[in-house]
Amino acid sequence: MACDHAGYDIKQYIIGLFKAQGISYIDYGTDSTNSVDYPDYGHKLGTAIDAGDCNYGIAICGTGNGINMALNRHTKVRSALCWNVEVTRLVRMHNDANVLTLPGRFITEEEAYRMIEVFFDTPFEGGRHQKRIDKIPCI
Ligand code: RB5
Repeated sequence: MACDHAGYDIKQYIIGLFKAQGISYIDYGTDSTNSVDYPDYGHKLGTAIDAGDCNYGIAICGTGNGINMALNRHTKVRSALCWNVEVTRLVRMHNDANVLTLPGRFITEEEAYRMIEVFFDTPFEGGRHQKRIDKIPCI
């Protein structure tokens, strides 16, 4: 998990639910609502995924866009900005997204958690979608 100050409250809410359910996670910060720069935290999570330290990520900033842009500079990251459960389901089914990025200033805590549930419960469809994913890296 990674966020900036605009995503901190939702990150902490999600961590509280993970702890209550015994779900393991790594928290790459930030650690308060003090103003920070979203690339610093997006790159921490992206570096961890590139290194194989974690397989999936959840990232949150104000609109979700800045941290999503930083994450998608990492070779092994497919970060998808999601704003409802339908989009979230499709980014797993069609894009095999491995990072769920959320717009912390535009969703409720409950909406965030529902999207996280759908993200982790939805498998990749493969097939024609794998061929398209294979074309994403710049040659
Ligand atoms: C922080 O004010 C805000 O710019 C950031 O959270 C994010 O929305 C950027 O994309």
